[in-house]
Amino acid sequence: MGSVPGPAAGTTDAQTPPTPPPTVAGRGNGGAVPAPPGHVALIMDGNGRWAMARGLPRAAGHNAGAEAVRRCVQAAIKRGVRYLTLYAFSSENWRRTPDEVADLTSLLRYYLRHKVAELSREGVRIRIIGDLSRFDVEVRAEAKRAEDATAANRRLTLVLALSYGGRADIMQAAKHVALAVRDGTLDPDRLDEALFGRFLLTADLPDPDLIIRTSGECRLSNFLLWQSAYAELVFLDTLWPDFNEQHFDAALDMFARRERRFGARPTL
Ligand code: IPE
Ligand code: IPE
Ligand code: MG
Repeated sequence: MGSVPGPAAGTTDAQTPPTPPPTVAGRGNGGAVPAPPGHVALIMDGNGRWAMARGLPRAAGHNAGAEAVRRCVQAAIKRGVRYLTLYAFSSENWRRTPDEVADLTSLLRYYLRHKVAELSREGVRIRIIGDLSRFDVEVRAEAKRAEDATAANRRLTLVLALSYGGRADIMQAAKHVALAVRDGTLDPDRLDEALFGRFLLTADLPDPDLIIRTSGECRLSNFLLWQSAYAELVFLDTLWPDFNEQHFDAALDMFARRERRFGARPTL
């Protein structure tokens, strides 16, 4: 972060509150079922506990977690989700041991290098949010290559949150707003939520409709703090390496049963 020059150009619906899902002709029996959430975000947690339960090193949990990512992307495509954001490495995860950080980084490098072509063939566009400057030059280069190579794809936008922190994003946005005001390019009276949102790393992305966290923990851990204002939250006990299409569908079903009000009167 820190290299964002100002409000992103050509942003569309990034900060408008999501509208309640329309109904569409549904799966299976032809009845009307709610459309899937447009943007699903996932806090992929529990790799370490999964490994520990098997007497394996934590790295084995992260490797198995990478397989769950593949299942999750497939499930999202199948269900017609347009944006899938995966929290893969938080700004606080740098506090882990150097060995674990190295394991996670090399896994990331491997997947960026070897799995992007396959994703691209399926119409997946990759976007990365976070402070990439903290990664080595190789990871940064692979990340840029992945974004460039998939930029024209439209089926699913896969957002990888890497070295990402919600507070850090809000901070860098605030700094850029302050600089723009100081330089006379932004009138502070014009600043509103929509304009502020255009300084965030997620400027070109809609807010998440549904945030799923695995492993039984019930917290956001600094994920999409600004953007989650009206997200529905689903907490699953499943550990991330065990996550599969059935879990994804179960979370979507929970989402479909929620009534989103956005502060307005409940529907009777
Ligand atoms: C999630 O699993 C992966 C990352 C945070 C990178 P954890 O490594 O946090 O697994 P637990 O929470 O220790 O089980
Ligand atoms: C959140 O998991 C970050 C990711 C899943 C990448 P953590 O395991 O780091 O979160 P805490 O420490 O339990 O809050
Ligand atoms: Mg964890």
